[in-house]
Amino acid sequence: MIEVENVTKTYDGETYAVNDVSFHVPEGDTVVLLGPSGCGKTTLLRMVNRLVSITGGMISVNNQDIQTQDKIQLRRNIGYVIQSNALFPNMTIEENIVVVPDMLGWSKTEKHKRYRELMELTSLDPDYYQKRYPHELSGGQQQRIGIARALAANPPVMLMDEPFGALDPILRTHIQDEFLRIQSEIKKTILFVSHDIDEAIKMGDKVAIFKEGQLMQYDTPSEILTHPNSSFVADFVGQDRALKSLSLHTVEDLVVMLSLLPENSKGKVSKDISMRSNLRDALSILLNQEADQLNVVNEQNQSIGILTISLIEQYLHGVVKGKDTLEGVKA
Ligand SMILES: Nc1ncnc2c1ncn2[C@@H]1O[C@H](COP(=O)(O)OP(=O)(O)O)[C@@H](O)[C@H]1O
Ligand SMILES: [Mg+2]
Repeated sequence: MIEVENVTKTYDGETYAVNDVSFHVPEGDTVVLLGPSGCGKTTLLRMVNRLVSITGGMISVNNQDIQTQDKIQLRRNIGYVIQSNALFPNMTIEENIVVVPDMLGWSKTEKHKRYRELMELTSLDPDYYQKRYPHELSGGQQQRIGIARALAANPPVMLMDEPFGALDPILRTHIQDEFLRIQSEIKKTILFVSHDIDEAIKMGDKVAIFKEGQLMQYDTPSEILTHPNSSFVADFVGQDRALKSLSLHTVEDLVVMLSLLPENSKGKVSKDISMRSNLRDALSILLNQEADQLNVVNEQNQSIGILTISLIEQYLHGVVKGKDTLEGVKA
């Protein structure tokens, strides 16, 4: 786990790039540092692995003050992924991935075994890529190799600075999903920098929103969306925060709060949806007029009732006590 206590950083002795920031990342959680460009996210991240020195306060990783740890030792225990992971151009993909195990003196067999595990974890064919060079790979593939490389020596902590920021939106969504799947298996403690609220609510167990070096709110994605604590956070999260919050709720959550309609109305087109689906997907099917209503089915595929736009709207009003309505969404 990572503790950040009253941490400050000034580069010029006058202005604070990071200003008295405190928060705590529990073991196995992902915390997203979110905020506009220049608000101090990268500075804070790079203080954790001591690429940037701390002006004041304390950071500890796995219950040990980082200042008391040898820098090289510290960095071996912390995977670091940046936007454009500079893979070594003259090394093969396998050599790139095992750079740290190599420095740690692992045997050839151990390194190759680890290479294969990581390629499988990231859904890349180990045989196909083994002898290839970075320039033969697409940007998305290189980024996956960069993540595999950061995981190579199995560090308990990962720092990720806008790791998917250079990818196009479709690829980014795909890699985010893939990374969530990987993280559910490996359960690293992760600090993840983003300037994108959608990415933050998707990737974070908690989100830390910064403004000019100060931590404005540190909360779960759902709390940030439904109860922003300041106009800065509300504006940053955006006018469509109600809609965004729907992606954090399932049809089942709605069923707990409201009753579904009992049966199909005549002449309406209906489509099955699982209780496990999120409400944003449910809404988008209805708004795209793929169906007039949704037939909600449980795990045994039995129908448990009908979901309509107006039920989603009622739910939204219950969850988000704000001015947002679905009118803005439909427009
Ligand atoms: N090496 C540096 N020297 C001087 N100022 C810096 C340096 N790195 C960052 N800054 C300043 O610190 C502030 C925070 O920057 P940064 O941490 O890169 O923000 P973010 O990652 O949120 O965009 C900015 O005002 C930036 O200009
Ligand atoms: Mg940055």
